[in-house]
Amino acid sequence: MSFYIYVTRKIPEAGLRLLQEQFNVEVYGGKSPVPRKTLEEAVAGADGLVCLLSDVIDAPLLDKAARLKIVANYAVGYNNIDIEAARQRGVMVTYTPGVLTNATAELAFALIITLTRRIRQADRFTRQGRFVGWDPLLFLGDELAEKTLGIIGMGRIGADLAAKFRAFGMSVIYHNRGRVDEATEAALAARWTALEELLSEADIISIHAPLNASTRHLLNAKSMEKIKPGAFLINTARGEIVEEAALVEALQTGRLKGAGLDVYEKEPAVTPELMALDNVVLLPHIGSATAETRDNMAVMVAENVIAALSNGIPENLVPEMIADKG
Ligand code: DGY
Repeated sequence: MSFYIYVTRKIPEAGLRLLQEQFNVEVYGGKSPVPRKTLEEAVAGADGLVCLLSDVIDAPLLDKAARLKIVANYAVGYNNIDIEAARQRGVMVTYTPGVLTNATAELAFALIITLTRRIRQADRFTRQGRFVGWDPLLFLGDELAEKTLGIIGMGRIGADLAAKFRAFGMSVIYHNRGRVDEATEAALAARWTALEELLSEADIISIHAPLNASTRHLLNAKSMEKIKPGAFLINTARGEIVEEAALVEALQTGRLKGAGLDVYEKEPAVTPELMALDNVVLLPHIGSATAETRDNMAVMVAENVIAALSNGIPENLVPEMIADKG
């Protein structure tokens, strides 16, 4: 009997091909998130579901999925899935750790340089034909050497960014619920701090934490008061970690000199005030968007589905399920 796999958006061929070789695969053809009703109908007969971070996989949906064995999220963040509800129904949940670490850290890196060296403004100025000759005072930016990078969430991506910026001569401090091991701290020359201390010391704050109950609105009006005046804020993790109204206020008052955002509190909606600010770089959630990484994610997702439906244990079960499966 061939298993039926529902894929909520076209993903790279590298992964789709692997699935199609073994299973009966249906891919939702739309260019925006699959409508809830369509998803409900599809999961009713599905053995495996490949979904995106924008698909809400909750208890009512899982109740309609009597045969479902695996939900393979095409993302490293899995706050879109009710893990407890899946566990109670015997559905495995996998994610894509590791393969998108470099791509996402590179994007955070790009946002930092774009902001501190005023790349957007300088590019626009040149295109407008306003470059009339070299000027000692033209587009002075902020140098990174000897400044402090503050990383919120020292997982794979945070650690990778720390390593990249060590090469720029920056000091690295980090805040994480638990400290990373001493060897990692030593290798990255990174020092753990409380959140308040990080906010008051860092010249660049970059968020790499997962979204959960303890990180939702971690940066709000109150915590933003602690930010070092003139700091830059980068978010390539999840929009809901930052209260966007408070962010707008911090940018408008100048407490924050700039922000680089790849994610939004009410994604895909962007707070209109942010659009109007020139000291903000806005990207459409492209942290993992390199051809290499998206291929690797697709292969990983397919391998997880194949393992789950061959009575195996997928390699990339979400950590909350690892104790369950031994
Ligand atoms: C993820 O995988 O969680 C990222 O946000 C996708 O770019």
